[in-house]
Amino acid sequence: MTGRLDAPLKVAGRAKYAADNNFPGMVYGCVVTSTVARAEIEAMDVTAAKSAPGVLAVYTPFDPLELQTPPPMPIPGDAWLPLRNRDVEWYGQPIGFVVAETFEQARDASMLVEVTYRQLPARTSLEDHLDDAEDPPELLGGAEPVVTVLADGVESIEDALADSPVVVSATYRTATQNHAAMEPHSAVAVWEDGVLTVYSGNQGSNLLAYELSGALGLEPAQVHVVNPFVGGAFGGKGRTSVPGFLAAAAARALNRPVKATLTREQVFTATATRPATLQEISLGADRDGTLLALKHDSWCTLPRSGSFVEETSHSSSLRSYATRNLRISQRVVRLDLPQTTFMRAPGEAPGSFALESAMDELAVALDVDPIELRLRNNSIAPPGQDLQWSSKHLDECFTTGAQRFGWIHRTPNGRTDGDWQVGLGVATAMFPAIRFPSSVEVRLNADETAVISTSGADPGTGLLTVVSTVGAESLGIAPERITPRLGNSLFPPGGMSGGSSATASTGTAIMAATAEVLDALLKLASAPGAPFEGQEVTYAEGQVHGGGRTMPYGELLRAVGEESVAAVGSSAPGEEMTKHSFSSFGAQFCEVRVHRLTREVRVSRLLGVFDGGRIINDQLARSQLSGGMIWGVSAALHEGLEIEDNGRFANGDFAGYLVPVNADIPQVDVEFVEYPDTFHNDVGARGLGEIGVVGVAAAIANAVYNATGIRVRHIPITIEDLL
Ligand code: MOS
Repeated sequence: MTGRLDAPLKVAGRAKYAADNNFPGMVYGCVVTSTVARAEIEAMDVTAAKSAPGVLAVYTPFDPLELQTPPPMPIPGDAWLPLRNRDVEWYGQPIGFVVAETFEQARDASMLVEVTYRQLPARTSLEDHLDDAEDPPELLGGAEPVVTVLADGVESIEDALADSPVVVSATYRTATQNHAAMEPHSAVAVWEDGVLTVYSGNQGSNLLAYELSGALGLEPAQVHVVNPFVGGAFGGKGRTSVPGFLAAAAARALNRPVKATLTREQVFTATATRPATLQEISLGADRDGTLLALKHDSWCTLPRSGSFVEETSHSSSLRSYATRNLRISQRVVRLDLPQTTFMRAPGEAPGSFALESAMDELAVALDVDPIELRLRNNSIAPPGQDLQWSSKHLDECFTTGAQRFGWIHRTPNGRTDGDWQVGLGVATAMFPAIRFPSSVEVRLNADETAVISTSGADPGTGLLTVVSTVGAESLGIAPERITPRLGNSLFPPGGMSGGSSATASTGTAIMAATAEVLDALLKLASAPGAPFEGQEVTYAEGQVHGGGRTMPYGELLRAVGEESVAAVGSSAPGEEMTKHSFSSFGAQFCEVRVHRLTREVRVSRLLGVFDGGRIINDQLARSQLSGGMIWGVSAALHEGLEIEDNGRFANGDFAGYLVPVNADIPQVDVEFVEYPDTFHNDVGARGLGEIGVVGVAAAIANAVYNATGIRVRHIPITIEDLL
């Protein structure tokens, strides 16, 4: 098994991230942010800032950089362009950009900008403004805000619930979160001979190049985006960041290379968040646990401008369980809070907290084992849909996991161990299997090596290694002979590392490109004057075969006087979408210990068993999943932005925004049930990036209930909830 190819560079500090790039004559930009949540900016006095040492320019809404709305991209949500008008729509909104010869000069000058606000009343609480909820501006795939599936003869979901022998109803809440990637959003932009080169961590360099070219009114070919290394993204680097737009526009305006980085505090407000949600769920069941009705109504926050919706009902309840009657709805509440965007397992992560907690409540009400309840309602297709799952082994995830975890020892009221109350919990995990259009170039070289290039990004997911592995397999040569190249918009458009799609998308494109390049190679081999002139030729394991002879491809290229042969191959979702529904599945198991006196919660064991199709690289797949599961612990027990009435994040920094440290995390056990899914794509791999986080928060809350008898219906769960 190949280890992570980029690991040695990263561990040794030799991986060059965006802000590590320096150029002669480079200047530095600092972002200025608002100190109120809602206002019209009446004036900005930049006299002192402009005359401070080293300052080249101070950009504000009164003296803005040239930026226009870019064309839409095939990514949910929209770009937010800084300094476009005088409206302040959230606390910490970028309202200025100071450029100076040194970073220190820019930072010092940025503190001299004086802002006069005409303050307006701000709305910052989802709970207080539920009455102002509205329909969402857009939902994924153009879905309707309300989806209803009713069995024949059933008039409404309320009737179906009323007719159910057992009903549980509850309201669940999840907190606003920030991606908090280790690498703060940053950009270095160089304008030279009418071409802008931008170094900026992202999830797809071709997408950023397209968005930036639109924003700057340039041709796409005039913007070149480079990001070989990305220090974490998780959805937060899917679009151009504020430093990206500002550095690019300033580099053009000043004709100097510009570097802009956000401070950690600015990352919390100048980038987008996962919005808070409120979810009401009612489950109706027969006494044997068969689901008869599922009603899931969701609300999430949205900024005043902006359209990304955290689709909790549509993600979780629309797909999870077989039920004859279903009604889901999604509403939004516009508040004076930062922009929203996708974050690891959008919809599913907070949605599964609610649904999987509700399933546990139903198991308690029915007095049935929570695993048995889930298996009893296992679906062969999403409710109300004809297309069956292409490959689903959720039952095996649960049975394998139950055995491995010792589920048989669970009792309905937990157990005690000295001063600790110990409980076990489970949850189902799902994340849809997605592919995006992707193109890849495969080049065979005369020195018997190969280069595989695509513009896609490896934000820590392991894509670079996957490209090497799938390429080696397709070409039938050792991975050591392959150089994978990512993160450059000059490479064929690889789409986005997002939606847990990159392995399936890029892998399939590599297979297509390999077929093309081998075709070209064999044509060269049998061409007039070539070693296999006029013969039937085939390729296997790096060798061309024909007429009883064999020749390595490099030797053949040398014989015909070519340094290399290359081809681009592409893949995109297609006919398979009309034949099956696609999703990865998993079962999350968790043991918690709650201290009798201090009420602190410790997660003592975690197991996830996943059904994600073929596993390309065991080590990287485990790493993705355990990372996701740790994020689930974080969501359950640590993470959440505290929003003050004035819209300020009380804990918008790494001192206050809690994430787990090593001491908070037990050994995380990841297992696979491996069934290659070639209905979905030729590689047989479905997504594994996001499903790791799904269900973990519910499994923890369910374990806390098992340990203590206290049902906590919000995350993060704190000591105060268990007093
Ligand atoms: Mo992932 S949240 O789709 O980048």
